[in-house]
Amino acid sequence: MGRKKIALIGAGNIGGTLALLAAQKELGDVVLFDVVEGVPQGKALDLSQVGPIAGFDAKITGSNDYKDIAGADVIIVTAGVARKPGMSRDDLLGINLKVMKAVGEGIKVNAPDAFVICITNPLDAMVWALREFSGLPHNKVVGMAGVLDSARFSHFIADEFNVSVKDVNTFVLGGHGDTMVPVVRYSTVNGIPVPDLVKMGLSSQEKIDAIVKRTRGGGGEIVALLGTGSAFYAPAASGIAMAEAYLGDQKRILPCAAYVDGEYGVEGLYVGVPVLIGANGVEKVIEIELDEADKAGLKVSVDAVKELLEACKALDASLA
Ligand code: APR
Repeated sequence: MGRKKIALIGAGNIGGTLALLAAQKELGDVVLFDVVEGVPQGKALDLSQVGPIAGFDAKITGSNDYKDIAGADVIIVTAGVARKPGMSRDDLLGINLKVMKAVGEGIKVNAPDAFVICITNPLDAMVWALREFSGLPHNKVVGMAGVLDSARFSHFIADEFNVSVKDVNTFVLGGHGDTMVPVVRYSTVNGIPVPDLVKMGLSSQEKIDAIVKRTRGGGGEIVALLGTGSAFYAPAASGIAMAEAYLGDQKRILPCAAYVDGEYGVEGLYVGVPVLIGANGVEKVIEIELDEADKAGLKVSVDAVKELLEACKALDASLA
């Protein structure tokens, strides 16, 4: 069996980090694609020269031609414009919708059997548009949001309780944006729900509320600190975890922006829900029991996604 092929559409900050992680983990050969000439080729050459030092076997190439993504097993899409300070994810809509159209068509023609992970923001709308433009089955197109959002949540929880991140498991539902729903009841430290730890006096409700708020604004906090560009290390690591779940048929349950067709009372759009990822892509949407507050939070999130989809349809008649 030959090596797997990972195509990365967008060779910017996240794309470059994805390439490094994919190569270091020897997930397969890597093709970095970008519209800017020289950048994917230059990054590919630089990254290839990590190989002798790190000792990985992965062929890394750069390209400006969609033909080079042919036969890709996994495609991770970060093409587009990143958020600048003061810019919301939704401001990116118009620019990145056009990018999704070009990328979707490139995938449709050259790699229709791939498992496609979208990272470009505003995520819940872009992954939907990418699926529409590419025509791939819904289970083969998924958005990366929840893995990153819950990693942020987990990091803050581990810090608060001063425990290993390995023992922390947190849960985030809803859209990738200010409307995301961190579900505290399903968040645990080695199986102990966070509300129980609060009852035990190990933290306070105020502190957990502040962590929830900080998680919701997790991307914006980094954008403001960087001054230019947005987070890229953790987004790339999140995309790689999803790619590994597919390539290794791991049957992992991960929070992702997935297509829902009636689950959670929502139909026909992408929203952050727990899904099972294995060799068939998104194999199942996991429906957990929500309390009234979480249900209301999810509804706000879904309504925000719906609004974005209407805006996409107004911008591009082929989506209507
Ligand atoms: N096709 C391919 N690549 C494109 C296209 C296109 N039509 N348009 C832009 N690009 C490339 C840019 O040339 C750039 O190299 O996409 C890359 C984006 O890289 P960065 O600007 O460094 O952005 P990054 O931090 O990687 O984030 C990418 O992910 O999290 C989201 O909000 C973020 O939407 C943004 C995306």
